Amino acid sequence: MNVKLRVWRQDNAQSEGRFIDYEARDLNPNMSFLEMLDVVNEEITKRGGEPIAFDHDCREGICGMCSCVINGEAHGPESKVATCQTYLRSFEDGETITVEPFRAKAFPLIKDLIVDRSAFDRVIQAGGFISAAAGAAPDGNAMLVPKQDADLAMDAAACIGCGACVAACKNASAMLFVAAKVSHLNVLPQGKPEKDRRALAMVEQMDKEGFGACTITGSCEAVCPKGISLNFIAKMNRDYLGALLRTGGK
Ligand code: SF4
Ligand code: FES
Repeated sequence: MNVKLRVWRQDNAQSEGRFIDYEARDLNPNMSFLEMLDVVNEEITKRGGEPIAFDHDCREGICGMCSCVINGEAHGPESKVATCQTYLRSFEDGETITVEPFRAKAFPLIKDLIVDRSAFDRVIQAGGFISAAAGAAPDGNAMLVPKQDADLAMDAAACIGCGACVAACKNASAMLFVAAKVSHLNVLPQGKPEKDRRALAMVEQMDKEGFGACTITGSCEAVCPKGISLNFIAKMNRDYLGALLRTGGK
């Protein structure tokens, strides 16, 4: 199949960006979107041009590095998949596909389709450590975890930190990401001793990084490649309010 690409090109955060058109020909419909960008980059490089810069790593939906807005949707048209697991068969032969970076004040642009998502790392760092000993694998029954809590923690831990939730939100809110990261430890017994401190510190860091407020439109949940539920935001709000009342915010 053949597609036409309109790709956002920008040298750095200070320079002006613009869309550049490319033709991609003789593509296999079973290629991933990133493999198609590889093919386009090969052609650009052969002509002596500067390849399109884009983020990627695992290419199997687990690392959270890929980060394109495709035809106006973070991670493209398919539900619950990251850009790296989006395949050309999801597009029409001859279609014009627009590719842009995740846009948010807290994700400054580095180059072309690459943005700096280190704000997420700082939110996780603010969460700190757990005091429960986490050495060698413990006996399976040494600490009993209710099945529903274990399942909930696993659902939250599925967040790969890609930032699509921020890119999709009209306020560039990071609430879905932060809620997932707060919750996956807060629901487990091992995470309980630092529960209040964790909720307060991560929310405070989120605000410092310049993410916007959540108005619960659900656009984050709709684009999330891991199907993280809005319920985690409600849960984090409860954890945060409880922590404020118990500690006075200290
Ligand atoms: S909540 Fe979903 S969209 Fe947001 S960072 Fe985690 S995996 Fe990505
Ligand atoms: S490249 Fe790892 S999730 Fe897409």
